[in-house]
Amino acid sequence: MSGSLEGKTALVTGGGSGIGRATALAFAREGARVAIVDYVPEGGNQTLNMIKEIGDGRFFKADVSKPEEIRRAVEQTVDIYGALDCAFNNAGIEGAGVRNDPWDQENWHRVIAINLTGVFLSMQYEVEQMLKRGGGAIVNTSSILGLVAMPGAFAYTAAKHGVAGLTKAAALQYAQKGIRVNAVCPGYIHTPMVERSVGLGSEMAQHITKHLQPIGRLGKPEEIAEAVVWLCSPAASLVTGITMPVDGGCTAQ
Ligand SMILES: NC(=O)c1ccc[n+]([C@@H]2O[C@H](COP(=O)([O-])OP(=O)(O)OC[C@H]3O[C@@H](n4cnc5c(N)ncnc54)[C@H](O)[C@@H]3O)[C@@H](O)[C@H]2O)c1
Repeated sequence: MSGSLEGKTALVTGGGSGIGRATALAFAREGARVAIVDYVPEGGNQTLNMIKEIGDGRFFKADVSKPEEIRRAVEQTVDIYGALDCAFNNAGIEGAGVRNDPWDQENWHRVIAINLTGVFLSMQYEVEQMLKRGGGAIVNTSSILGLVAMPGAFAYTAAKHGVAGLTKAAALQYAQKGIRVNAVCPGYIHTPMVERSVGLGSEMAQHITKHLQPIGRLGKPEEIAEAVVWLCSPAASLVTGITMPVDGGCTAQ
C-alpha cells in the first residue's frame, strides 16, 4: 500500500515508542498527517522528528487516563488539521509482571485506568469529532491476552478483554454512522515493553519463540503497523467489530 491515507488526519496514542511509533510512521508514509499523543515527551518528540522527514505531524503531551488531557489533544488535532479521520488507541502499560501478586489492587487500578479507561476516553472524544464529519476509522490495541488468558496477569488480561468488548460494542453503535471500529491483538512484539517485561535473550524469551509463537520469532512493530494501516484504509471498508490477531500463530494453537 502507498498513499492509501492521502489527505487524511490520523491520531496515535502511545506514539512515542514501539508499536505506536511504527504505526505513526506508517500513517505518514501513507500520506496522513499524524498527531502523536504520549505522556512521555522525549519519545513523542523523537517520533515527531522521524515523521517530519517524510511528512507532517504534531506531538501532544497527554495522559490517556485523564479525560481533560486526551480531550484537549483530540480537539487540538482537529483545530490544526480540520478533521480526524483515523485513530489508533494504543497507549498501554505492562503493569506488574506475572510473577507478582495478581491481586495487587494498586496494579489493578493503574492497568485498568490506562489500558481500558484510556481507550474508552480516547474513543469518546474521537467519535465526537468523527460524527461531525460523517465518519472515520478507529483501531484499538488489544492483545492476544484480549482473546486468551495468562495466569498471573489478571489486570492486563481483564483490560485487554475489555478493549475487545468495547471495540465490538462501539462498532455496532456506529456501524450506520460511517465509523468503523476494530482492534488488533498483537502477539509477542519486539518493543521496549517486551524488553522490560520479558528481557531479550532470557529463558522466557526463548520459551516464547520456541513454544508460544509458532512463527518462531518475536514480531516487529512494523508488522502490527501494516495491519492498522489496512484497517484504517478504504480497502477495509466492510470490516468493523473485529479483534484481529497479528500474532505469528499464537492464538491458533
Ligand atoms: N509488545 C508486545 O508484545 C505487545 C503485545 C500485545 C499488546 N501490546 C500492546 O501494544 C501497545 C503498545 O505497546 P508497546 O509494546 O509498543 O509498548 P511501549 O512501552 O514500547 O510503548 C507504549 C507507549 O505508550 C505510552 N503510554 C503509556 N501509558 C500512557 C498514558 N497513560 N498516556 C499516554 N501515553 C502512554 C508510553 O509512554 C510509550 O510511549 C500497548 O497497549 C500494549 O499493551 C504489546
